[in-house]
Amino acid sequence: MSWFDRIGPMSADRQYDIVLFGATGFTGGLTAEYLAEHAGPDVRWALAGRNRQKLEAVRDRLAARRPELTALALLHADTGDAASIEAVAAAARVVITTVGPYVKHGEPLVAACARAGTDYVDLTGEPTFVDEMYVRHHEQARRSGARIVHACGFDSIPHDLGAYFTVQQLPEGVPLHVEGFVRANGDFSGGTLHSAIGIFSDLPGLYRAERDRRTVEERPAGRRARISRSPLPRARIGDGWTLPMPTVDPAIVTRSALALDRYGPDFTYGHYVAVRRLATAAAMATGAGALIAAAALPPTRALLLKLRGAGDGPSAERRAKHWFSVTFVGEGGGKRVVTEVAGGDPGYDETAKMLAESALCLLQDDLPDTSGQVTTAAAMGDALITRLVKAGITFRVVRTG
Ligand SMILES: NC(=O)c1ccc[n+]([C@@H]2O[C@H](COP(=O)([O-])OP(=O)(O)OC[C@H]3O[C@@H](n4cnc5c(N)ncnc54)[C@H](OP(=O)(O)O)[C@@H]3O)[C@@H](O)[C@H]2O)c1
Repeated sequence: MSWFDRIGPMSADRQYDIVLFGATGFTGGLTAEYLAEHAGPDVRWALAGRNRQKLEAVRDRLAARRPELTALALLHADTGDAASIEAVAAAARVVITTVGPYVKHGEPLVAACARAGTDYVDLTGEPTFVDEMYVRHHEQARRSGARIVHACGFDSIPHDLGAYFTVQQLPEGVPLHVEGFVRANGDFSGGTLHSAIGIFSDLPGLYRAERDRRTVEERPAGRRARISRSPLPRARIGDGWTLPMPTVDPAIVTRSALALDRYGPDFTYGHYVAVRRLATAAAMATGAGALIAAAALPPTRALLLKLRGAGDGPSAERRAKHWFSVTFVGEGGGKRVVTEVAGGDPGYDETAKMLAESALCLLQDDLPDTSGQVTTAAAMGDALITRLVKAGITFRVVRTG
């Protein structure tokens, strides 16, 4: 097998069903392992990256468990080499990328997939990146038929599909209010740390990208969807404390609500983290403030980046102890429902599963006709929930009333 496997001429039947870009990193490695176990023999997939030795080591690791993967193709792709990125986009039906921080490395692949009509999934939790990609590449992807689906990991699948699942338990055609309460026990990788610091170090850029998006994004007539800005939720769950969680998730949920009539004429969503102790809530609030301040200043930012290097992440033993649950409280048309989405290690094991299943879902399932930048709920909805449930993630109605 040559290092840069020959990519044949582009055709309706692309050379590969799925190309995974970033398999030499921490989350990409887990995603490769998930695909090795679950993609099945009919899926033609390949690994892409910039470092041949590292890619061969990933392939050797996979082949030790699945000897048939000794022949897995390895493709050269470096975000600094436009031709290599174009070639990958043209050779695949679906591209998975775990190459982050996405603000720094992500755009060439989104642009190439939008041009080539190639479906794309990533793990970004960076709102600036999602908004900039919408402004610059959504229309092109609409024209080519590419589905550009960001945030296919813990950001934002449990929240996006959990809100979608909750809405389906409520009456149709009426205003709906949903609140999501996240509880989790996890750890973070070097890649996640670097991406988070990237978000906090450029808050003006984040607001600018959000504004630019608003000026070009079309809204459906006669329906609206908003993020609830209330610091306190309407609902209470358990005896703990809640804090608003200003992640990319609520924006994704409201975009699904704008895309799908089922969310009703007036949809609001509030997103909170739930903790048992007041001391934890206070520590999180001050910790977030300190992180934003430290990320904004170059010397402290450099120190933060040294906390964990690229490629590092929690061990399998640690991940086995991690878990998450998101409780949703939905109200509308005189009905109230409590639902839950839950699973294991949120940041990595479950994220790799969600990302790989999203790619397989785009590849294999009978889905609504969408294109351009689309959310997981709008692009894959029920089909992806079915896959995730089969893969061990819980979606359940806790109570109705
Ligand atoms: N939202 C979520 O739920 C969630 C969960 C987990 C991770 N993430 C995100 O996923 C991303 C990856 O995280 P991670 O911990 O897996 O990071 P990581 O271990 O540092 O891996 C980064 C990968 O990107 C590759 N890469 C970097 N620059 C490149 C370039 N110019 N061209 C080609 N490849 C390049 C690296 O290749 P080399 O090996 O050659 O250096 C490596 O494969 C981060 O943005 C993180 O925030 C999100």
